[in-house]
Amino acid sequence: MSADVSVVGSINLDHTTVTSAFPGPGETILGESVATSVGGKGANQAVAAALAGAHVSIVGSVGSDPDGDRALAALSAAGVSVDRVRRCDDVPTGTAWITVADGENKIIVVPGANEDVTIDGADTEASVTLCQLEIPMDVVASAAGRAGLFILNAAPATEITPALLRQCDVLVVNEHELATITSELIGSVNSIVTASRSLLDAGVRAVITTVGAQGAVLCQPGGASLTAAPRVPVVDTTGAGDAFCGVLAARLAAGDVLSVAVKWGVAAGSHAVQAPSAQSSYPDGAQLKAAVEAIAPAKEL
Ligand code: RIB
Ligand code: NA
Repeated sequence: MSADVSVVGSINLDHTTVTSAFPGPGETILGESVATSVGGKGANQAVAAALAGAHVSIVGSVGSDPDGDRALAALSAAGVSVDRVRRCDDVPTGTAWITVADGENKIIVVPGANEDVTIDGADTEASVTLCQLEIPMDVVASAAGRAGLFILNAAPATEITPALLRQCDVLVVNEHELATITSELIGSVNSIVTASRSLLDAGVRAVITTVGAQGAVLCQPGGASLTAAPRVPVVDTTGAGDAFCGVLAARLAAGDVLSVAVKWGVAAGSHAVQAPSAQSSYPDGAQLKAAVEAIAPAKEL
């Protein structure tokens, strides 16, 4: 069966340390716990989309090592098709080194096999293609050029070429990424709307800025709106943005309009922050339905 959502992106093994506070430069502190889990922005988004009910295929690359086996098993268990994941013999599976303190995180990614992702014509025969930026930029550009509906989650933060911006049907960023792409100072919701409008002028069809506990700002040529997130107890925000993107893509593939898909994305993100790590904290279909009922109607800006 052809996929509804094709994710072209990274697959990592996450090594997460939980501490009470981040160490400063030159400082040694004692941590509370350490754990490994399958992550990577691409894999996380693929799993979130599959749990939301989409047929999902991932294009990626892992090493011929136990981490790669584990990642493929986790993706398959979530219902993601891994036929298009390459196995590399000479590089290890990507790793992410994550510190969580007080619900916040700091992440270092060592790309490994993610640098070797390639793409061919068959890889984007989906209604929706979703990319992030932990794989080579030329692969992202090539996926964008072939996509039906192209969603770019511009994470981690980096500059985006004008040509790639013009290919974006939907650009999803956080405030830091929006600041990096537009070179604008981002603070208030107004500054988000102003920066987003400059991206619409550059040819992006819609810009979504996730604003953590506040929810998400959607900016389209017709206007801007804020979908507020409900107040929830935060345990670990790692991969919450990925839950948002994956569910957004699944809902768009199912035919929702953008404003409705954003509501589902916010619901997914706020569910995900309430448990440790990324994928294991993502909602299944029933949990997502319950979570979306807690989301208030968007406020026009
Ligand atoms: O967005 C969270 C993800 O970023 C983690 O799973 C880690 O692998 C990094 O890619
Ligand atoms: Na989580």
